[in-house]
Amino acid sequence: MSSAGPTRRDFLFVATGAVGAIGAAATLVPLIAQMNPDSSTVAAGAPIEVDLAPITQGQAIKVFWRGKPIYIEHRSKSEIEAARNVDVASLPDPQADQARVKAGHDQWLVVIGICTHLGCIPIARQGDFGGFFCPCHGSHYDTSGRIRQGPAPANLAIPPYAFLSDSKIRIG
Ligand code: FES
Repeated sequence: MSSAGPTRRDFLFVATGAVGAIGAAATLVPLIAQMNPDSSTVAAGAPIEVDLAPITQGQAIKVFWRGKPIYIEHRSKSEIEAARNVDVASLPDPQADQARVKAGHDQWLVVIGICTHLGCIPIARQGDFGGFFCPCHGSHYDTSGRIRQGPAPANLAIPPYAFLSDSKIRIG
């Protein structure tokens, strides 16, 4: 049997090809979606990127990395000066401000927002030293996140982070 028009077999080939193309498109979307870390991966410790551009001077934001609160503060000149006009040797946990920020990005303070006393979350831009205040038992941290007064034994920890550009950091 011969015919110039389409046969039933031709139709089956075309139909199979169409299903194949749709199938490929349908599997591509989940594959692309899989390239972004899901929330459980982020919670397990995947690095996060934070855009600093919206954080104006004098503001602090809180993000979460590995389930921990991270404070990112855009410090003013006077806050940086306050952190540096201190006799480092007199501090309970002596550390220079310069060692707690990235060179050339001195206005940005990035700390883990967990009080080093018993783990409460301190409040940013509060307390006698203008940095952080932990209301649980009254620990005061300065504008470098260093413990200045109260029962906390150590400065707020600094998470691992790097500047990807002047306005973007990666934590983790
Ligand atoms: S947990 Fe912060 S002062 Fe005790």
